Amino acid sequence: EAAESNELRSPIFVVLGHVDAGKTKTLDKIRQSNVAAGEHGRITQQIGATYIPRDALEQKIAAVARGSDFKLRLPGLLMIDTPGHESFSNLRSRGSDLCNIAILVVNMTSGFEPQTFESIRMLKERRIPFVVAMNKIDRLYDWKTTPDAGFAATFAKQTKNVRQEFDGHLKRVILQLSEEGFNASLFNENPDERKYISVVPISAMTGEGIPDLLLLLSRLSQQMMAEKLTFQENIEATILEVKMLEGQGTTIDVILSNGTLREGDRIVVCGLNGPIVTSIRSLLTPEPLKEMRVKTPFIHHSEVKGAMGVKIAAQDLEGAVAGGRVLVINERMSEEQAKREVMAD
Ligand code: GTP
Ligand code: MG
Repeated sequence: EAAESNELRSPIFVVLGHVDAGKTKTLDKIRQSNVAAGEHGRITQQIGATYIPRDALEQKIAAVARGSDFKLRLPGLLMIDTPGHESFSNLRSRGSDLCNIAILVVNMTSGFEPQTFESIRMLKERRIPFVVAMNKIDRLYDWKTTPDAGFAATFAKQTKNVRQEFDGHLKRVILQLSEEGFNASLFNENPDERKYISVVPISAMTGEGIPDLLLLLSRLSQQMMAEKLTFQENIEATILEVKMLEGQGTTIDVILSNGTLREGDRIVVCGLNGPIVTSIRSLLTPEPLKEMRVKTPFIHHSEVKGAMGVKIAAQDLEGAVAGGRVLVINERMSEEQAKREVMAD
């Protein structure tokens, strides 16, 4: 299938890291939400998905994009949150299967922790490009905060002692990455982004460094992944959750990585007792910048393009399997072929 006229699709980023590193809080800062505070036991227990549309992204990177020649070409991006608790290794694995680029969040003052190493192992196995967000820089003693500033601007305002302490933490993270077999560098000193992992210092609390992180992710996806990110009609969709929704019955929350889903589409879904064949009754998404797993008013769509987190309402979804695939029956995919494929993995 030929790609449609160079149209880029939204990349998918997954946020990985040890429990309490600040993954959800980082997304909260980007969304201007407060999901982390409402979580049961204050830990994430599900995969989340949030769409960041282009205009919001443009605003978020403005502080550091001004004066550079960077042109944002992405329609937006899809951010996937994962739990850091050790018992959710399957969800981290599913999240990393879905993404184009990963953000490994490390708590600066703790350095690498068990699930940091586990995440790196998963990224290595799948050869997924990643950047490190070195979080909680605001916790440095005597740190002077400039909310939502670019890193260079805020770092320039710190005292010599603060900078020295920062350098020690940065060196440790770079050393720990090298012990895992990666060259790494502070993002704005990176000599070769193909060979060195970029470390972006951020604070999910104050927003410092977040513009740099988003600009880097946008630039990397445009440069290194233009080919993969070109929009194609092949459906690639994975079930995250099977959930009841009042008025809609059983629904499935899906990450649509690629392709277009339409209301009325005949779909085949991986089920507990074999493939489920049904038709899409409603296609729902949360509002832009809203987390899919939070109770939220949903927007109805007649069609949705990947990448997007989407809720599908249809008959007979009770036995659908989280982690399974969704395929559409069309001229390129017969019902029989779709049934075989959804049950293949
Ligand atoms: P799990 O999803 O359970 O793995 O944790 P998480 O990585 O999503 O961590 P979360 O975002 O829930 O943050 C954990 C705690 O650290 C919360 O109390 C946050 O308020 C705090 N925190 C996160 N980022 C920062 C930061 O940049 N600075 C400060 N001072 N605190 C932060
Ligand atoms: Mg979390």
